[in-house]
Amino acid sequence: MTGFDAYDPEFVRDPYPTYARLRDEGPFYDERWGLTFFSRHRDVTAILRDRRFGRDIRHVLPLDQVDRRTYPEHLPQWYRMVRGSFIDLEPPEHTRIRSAVNRAFTKSRAEVKRESIGAIAADLLDALAGREEFDAIADFAAPVPVAVISDMMGVPRDHRQQLLDWSHAIVRVFDLNVTPAEEQAAERAVGEFAAYLRELVLARRAEPGTDLISELVGTVGLPDDDLIATCILILNAGHEATVHAIGNGILAMARYPEVLAAVRADPGLLPTLTDELLRWDPPLHMFERWVLEDLDVAGVPLRQGDKVGLLFAAANRDPAVFPDPDRIDPARADNPHVAFGLGTHFCLGAPLARVELEEVFGALSRRFGTLTPAVAEPPRTASLVFHGVDSLPLRVGIGTAPG
Ligand code: HEM
Repeated sequence: MTGFDAYDPEFVRDPYPTYARLRDEGPFYDERWGLTFFSRHRDVTAILRDRRFGRDIRHVLPLDQVDRRTYPEHLPQWYRMVRGSFIDLEPPEHTRIRSAVNRAFTKSRAEVKRESIGAIAADLLDALAGREEFDAIADFAAPVPVAVISDMMGVPRDHRQQLLDWSHAIVRVFDLNVTPAEEQAAERAVGEFAAYLRELVLARRAEPGTDLISELVGTVGLPDDDLIATCILILNAGHEATVHAIGNGILAMARYPEVLAAVRADPGLLPTLTDELLRWDPPLHMFERWVLEDLDVAGVPLRQGDKVGLLFAAANRDPAVFPDPDRIDPARADNPHVAFGLGTHFCLGAPLARVELEEVFGALSRRFGTLTPAVAEPPRTASLVFHGVDSLPLRVGIGTAPG
């Protein structure tokens, strides 16, 4: 059989055998998705580097000639703030906005936050002291990224839940099965979120602090709407992926005790282990690109206005690039995975996400010698884009891990 069923429970649980078959079979068109899928590392990376593909088509074709589902103009605020944020623009518009925020997300800026991120992780584990079992998602993974990003934006701690509620409502529109009621809720959420951020912008303009919004307010040439769209993007892009990356990494360490043992024996492995866990089970599996002009990739003809689906997680296990790709090698040094993408839209938050993951995995591995999943199969929400567990009941022990 060519193709795959992204909602088959077996695929949702473990998509990697299917990805191996898809890599062997090569690119294919899937009618249900309206996408030509690519899964080999060579093809995925070639497309990500090729400027004839993009995350926007509006600069090339009028809206009535493309798949309108991407551009819901009947939700005007959502359309402006979400589809107008720089992740969905191409150069030169993309460059104009991204270059204004880039310097807040460099590696050295992420390093400055390492200590406070480590403290957030340690505090969460302290709060769990004495418990032999907890939910690694709700009790540990989920609170970290929202704490980091709201501290960074200078949003008061007690507004965090509100930020998450808005973010969850907004991203529902990305799903093909969104209902009209959910669309209206998303539109309202963008309106409220934007109004909230406008107030913050005004406050920081009057009295600048050391947070990201104060820094962006001081950036010459970024209109308020772009600034607000960027803040919404950073929260949406930064939250869910990081929670799932933490959850997937903890699940891997729980299922493969030798991985936990290796990093306990040598904490210097944390940076390579973090990237290896991102390669082995990334939180984001598929991204799309528009075809901006007629061309061929790997012998497949593509026409302007077509869309391709790039299976990042399949590329990350390509044996043509990664020796022994299904094994977690905590010391893997040559690791050109695409968990953070590549090219124009390479993840803005990658340095920050790496610090978060290293600190979280570090704190957990210092504290516990054994991590045991308390259920055989943690629950997952079926999605081809987001890949992670919704909860992860874990039994923990301070003893030395076997192996
Ligand atoms: C482990 C966690 C994360 C993963 C796996 C991840 C992954 C990705 C990927 C794959 C892309 C590229 C999408 C594409 O090519 O179409 C991306 C873009 C982006 N990410 Fe992340 N991300 C993570 C965390 C974060 C964080 C913490 C932030 C912000 C604080 C962030 C902000 C962004 C932004 C703004 C973009 C758009 C970049 C652009 O279009 O130029 N991400 N991310």
